[in-house]
Amino acid sequence: MSGRRKLIFGNFKMNFSVKQAVSYAGKLAAKTVPEGVEVAIFPHSLALSEIATMSQKTPIKIGAQNAYFQDQGAFTGEIAMPMLRGIAKYVLVGHSERRRIMGESRDDTRKKMAAAMRSGIKPVLCIGETLTERNYRQTGTVLNEMLTVALADLTSEEVEKIIIAYEPVWAISSGDDFAKHKAALPEDISKVQVLIRRVVAELYGEDAGKKIRILYGGSTNADNSQAFLDVEGIDGLLVGGASLSVQTFWPMVEKAGAKIPKKVIIKKK
Ligand code: PGA
Repeated sequence: MSGRRKLIFGNFKMNFSVKQAVSYAGKLAAKTVPEGVEVAIFPHSLALSEIATMSQKTPIKIGAQNAYFQDQGAFTGEIAMPMLRGIAKYVLVGHSERRRIMGESRDDTRKKMAAAMRSGIKPVLCIGETLTERNYRQTGTVLNEMLTVALADLTSEEVEKIIIAYEPVWAISSGDDFAKHKAALPEDISKVQVLIRRVVAELYGEDAGKKIRILYGGSTNADNSQAFLDVEGIDGLLVGGASLSVQTFWPMVEKAGAKIPKKVIIKKK
């Protein structure tokens, strides 16, 4: 798993005007993405189309923050997965803010995963425990349930292609305090990635367990990002607050691409 590309995804949440989001994307377009890294940004729906057009000739990928599970129809205010075709490569499914604030159910995430697959949009399934669940040592049970339900309508071949973002609810920043908010520890993330891969392997086979990509999200910033990226089995980061300015986001991209110098071996005479 160590030779895999690192994915650095920026979730803008409900921030920026269209003009600001487009200006941000313009700044990223001028950057050189380091070898071995993929960068994707997830602006709000109104900015998606324009940013997708301007990013076409750049390595920056685009993702949507949400879409509905029906392909079309009388669902006022929603956007459908097929509408994202040709615009977004990725779509977030089941972000904790959607589950907690918008009342999205586990069953909704199952339908959305299937809808994303049908439309050829790669889903990034977000899962994570609350502080109470963590304190009651229910993290494993909760993640297992979230995964089992969300993936229930997919085949092994489909599951192999998905991305899972482990985002403990208690670690997610308000958007302003990402530098000082409590993040998970690399040891916790290491245990969780083993658990996620085990659950997926049991349900969809060993291959699927190995092939799925796992991101960590929750108060990541340029100071702590390397420690998370160094965890075996972690393929990248889903960044919220720190992605809201190029100055705080891009150093994380650069760090993900920095080659660790080989140990110098001094021969004894
Ligand atoms: P944060 O958000 O980096 O601001 O904690 C992460 C997320 O919610 O995706």
